[in-house]
Amino acid sequence: MWTLYRHTRGMLYLRLGTALHSETCEPMEVYRSLYDNDMAPLWVRPQPMFHEEVAPGQKRFTEVGRIRVMMPEDEAVYLAFGHDAWGKGLSVEEFVAAYAHDKHHTRGTRYLLESNDGEPLANLNTIRFVRGLIGIASVSVNPKHRGQGYGSTLTRGVMEILRCQDVDVRFMLYSEVRPALYERLGFTRLPEELQFHLPSVAMMTGKERVTEREVLFFREYF
Ligand SMILES: CC(C)(COP(=O)(O)OP(=O)(O)OC[C@H]1O[C@@H](n2cnc3c(N)ncnc32)[C@H](O)[C@@H]1OP(=O)(O)O)[C@@H](O)C(=O)NCCC(=O)NCCS
Repeated sequence: MWTLYRHTRGMLYLRLGTALHSETCEPMEVYRSLYDNDMAPLWVRPQPMFHEEVAPGQKRFTEVGRIRVMMPEDEAVYLAFGHDAWGKGLSVEEFVAAYAHDKHHTRGTRYLLESNDGEPLANLNTIRFVRGLIGIASVSVNPKHRGQGYGSTLTRGVMEILRCQDVDVRFMLYSEVRPALYERLGFTRLPEELQFHLPSVAMMTGKERVTEREVLFFREYF
């Protein structure tokens, strides 16, 4: 589980854990920017300072939610968030049950975003098929809470969690909504010859040339 914090200046960070300073054994919080920070993506700060108030009643970092890996008991609520977009005439219960036979769902790892008090906000799937490339799929936000940044926050948060494991990893997705949402997260539209599933737009992070194995992944993605 990773806790999401908003800095007093408004930027979002994900707390990764607590470390001990090797020389002093002072506890330090380790946290990662959820925006393009020119100085560094990863930060440490002494634990008391991380949690202190910068003015009476005003914390330096305010806890705003959590990202965690989705568990089977979360599925009935979170998978239903995509029903209005992908339900194809199924009831909500049928739609959720169908995921048990979806090859991307069964081989992927899902992450969810919940508020501080446990309100379910959003979820997405991650799929590994080619080394160094992770597909992001079925981003869906609680219909009661759309347009408030939760889709972007979860997507960026999961990207940063996975970048901690592999700093060079690239991400791809098929956007079924205005690509601007994902452009803000560093995705660009792939060239037309790699658009196999229009109107869903294939997008990817990074600037290196796309390999043949990656192209296979794009084709089989749906
Ligand atoms: C598509 C979807 C995932 C977007 O999630 P969302 O949480 O509503 O998205 P965001 O709030 O992060 O961004 C949407 C818009 O809200 C704006 N926004 C972001 N933070 C905001 C905030 N704090 N307050 C108000 N608006 C905000 C964004 O700028 C963006 O604006 P845009 O329409 O100009 O692009 C959501 O609508 C959904 O679940 N749809 C159904 C499933 C679906 O179609 N998924 C598509 C997968 S590709």
